[in-house]
Amino acid sequence: MSDKLNLVIVGAGGFGRELYEMLWAAFSPAKHDFKGFLAQSDQSLNDAGLDVPFLGDPLEYNPEPDDRFLMAIGYMDARRTLYESLTSRGGTFASFVHPKALVASTAEIGPGAVIYPFAVVSNASVLDDCTHLNYYASAGHDCKIGKYCLLAPYATLNGFVTLEDGVYISTHGVVAPGKTVGRDSKVSAGSCAMQDVTNGAIVFGVPGRQVRGMTHAD
Ligand SMILES: CC(C)(COP(=O)(O)OP(=O)(O)OC[C@H]1O[C@@H](n2cnc3c(N)ncnc32)[C@H](O)[C@@H]1OP(=O)(O)O)[C@@H](O)C(=O)NCCC(=O)NCCS
Repeated sequence: MSDKLNLVIVGAGGFGRELYEMLWAAFSPAKHDFKGFLAQSDQSLNDAGLDVPFLGDPLEYNPEPDDRFLMAIGYMDARRTLYESLTSRGGTFASFVHPKALVASTAEIGPGAVIYPFAVVSNASVLDDCTHLNYYASAGHDCKIGKYCLLAPYATLNGFVTLEDGVYISTHGVVAPGKTVGRDSKVSAGSCAMQDVTNGAIVFGVPGRQVRGMTHAD
């Protein structure tokens, strides 16, 4: 019997394949094996010609004690649903921090974080469970990033920014210093949230205008 931990990637699309390719930059083959992908379909793996184990639907999978899950899904609802489903059934998520990411020694990274190369997590920032920073995304000093939040490539959080749970910052989206983005809101690609953003809003443009939600002041 192996005393290694078994890595399981949740999501078999482009994000999952990308993470698979980088896996051994952050994990040691002496301590980990790759067990396989969990997803509703293995179509994307087959299309890419990847001959890797496919473990089936994450909602039906029974987590084993040595499994360590890695979240590789970009859809916000699915990130939350699958994280909650697997952890409620005893599953444990690992964190992936690529060695080319810059994470301050004073930062706190919650379980299930996936941090790509050239991302930055600066001084005294705190990432809650299951967050993702893509290539070149950055969280300045003293940021608080809630559960399931996702920063797409080049997304920028200035210092003292708070993202509540489930926030999506698109490619080159910016949140200005000290601002709070409410639960389940999105900042669109290339847009800049200059004011606090309420729950469930989408921010477009520079300076950003909110659609759907209302400002916290309202
Ligand atoms: C933020 C984002 C994800 C929102 O996408 P979405 O949830 O599909 O939102 P929609 O395009 O349906 O637009 C939502 C609403 O905003 C409105 N809207 C869209 N563009 C707008 C604009 N420029 N100004 C004002 N309103 C706009 C839409 O009309 C829609 O209104 P409605 O709900 O009343 O119909 C998308 O704008 C975006 O930035 N995508 C890039 C994602 C990315 O960076 N991916 C990289 C992954 S690694």
